[in-house]
Amino acid sequence: MLRRLHPEQPDSFEFTEANRKWAEAQISKYPEGRQASAIIPLLWRAQEQEGWLSRPAMEHVAAMLDMAYIRVLEVATFYFMFQLQPVGSVAHIQVCGTTSCMICGAEDLIGVCKDKIAANAHELSADGKFSWEEVECLGSCSNAPMAQIGKDYYEDLTADRMAEILDELAAGKVPTPGPQNGRFASEPLSGLTSLEDGETGHTKHNASVQLAVDIGDTVKRIDGTEVPLRAPWREAGTADPNQVAAARDDLMPPEGPDGKQGGRVAGEAPADRDVGASSDKSGEVPGEGAGVEAKAKPPAGEKPAPLDGPRDGAADDLKKISGVGPKLEALLNSLGVYHFDQVAGWSEAEIAWVDENLEGFKGRVTRDEWVRQAKELSAKSDT
Ligand code: FES
Repeated sequence: MLRRLHPEQPDSFEFTEANRKWAEAQISKYPEGRQASAIIPLLWRAQEQEGWLSRPAMEHVAAMLDMAYIRVLEVATFYFMFQLQPVGSVAHIQVCGTTSCMICGAEDLIGVCKDKIAANAHELSADGKFSWEEVECLGSCSNAPMAQIGKDYYEDLTADRMAEILDELAAGKVPTPGPQNGRFASEPLSGLTSLEDGETGHTKHNASVQLAVDIGDTVKRIDGTEVPLRAPWREAGTADPNQVAAARDDLMPPEGPDGKQGGRVAGEAPADRDVGASSDKSGEVPGEGAGVEAKAKPPAGEKPAPLDGPRDGAADDLKKISGVGPKLEALLNSLGVYHFDQVAGWSEAEIAWVDENLEGFKGRVTRDEWVRQAKELSAKSDT
């Protein structure tokens, strides 16, 4: 399938307040100059908010990470988990069509999707509630055929059961995920052949199904309100080993029904959400604006002499320096830097000062070799 932008795009995208705070906390996980590493969680969150990934959403994420839009587009079009067109408001059905599932009846499941949803993959049902697509192996081959619906796997499916599941979802119910033929997990269909007296588990369902049922996540989209958003690493004073340990404890998954530390919902990193370990239920990101960043550090190096404004009223396009986006350009302008030759002439001390004082982008001058690039761009503009 060609991975292209949908022809109809919304006018704009903004993270909700809760999701914006979450996104900013994710960015703060990475060292200065490496904020682009947060691209996948941010794109995923944008998709969770809107249901699919629009061009304005990608542009919004690009601006937050000071990345060129094309780099964000490359990531979004590479990973099939990102939906580049609107999906059903209730559920998008991803039917595995790879060998094991194909042999065991995947085509029948796709037939049900064609009958009950839409004739073509990625087409919305008439009521807008459903869409479907065929995907490659989802790693549940021993329970073929299977489909991913929302965040859960529905395994050991038949065409009839698939049709029932779609009817249940349309009626506002959430069917129990996991094996649909009575199997606990992926034991032999004919029953256990060894360790027959062994424990099959303390719960009604296998671990991942039990957690999905307990949390009730399934087809519900993450919107930032379901659990408190916490970022203890941003709190002031986490250099204290006791506080670091406490912060780490806060990030542990919740206790499972058997009292052991539980697992997590597919697609969710444990550090991304505190699923109940904390007594702080405010929903706020604590320490925002505080923490390590807020501690005053003595400025390093020597500030380059600023210009009051661009010479002859025409600034150079600093975005031509690889690694400089609209945000960094505005930041440089605010420091009185408008021209390639200014950057090209920075001394070691001035590079150190700028590297230290680019709030949110520390170290970029050195990492992306701005001075070398600026010298080349300056030479070009002189010819
Ligand atoms: S072949 Fe379908 S999950 Fe692997």
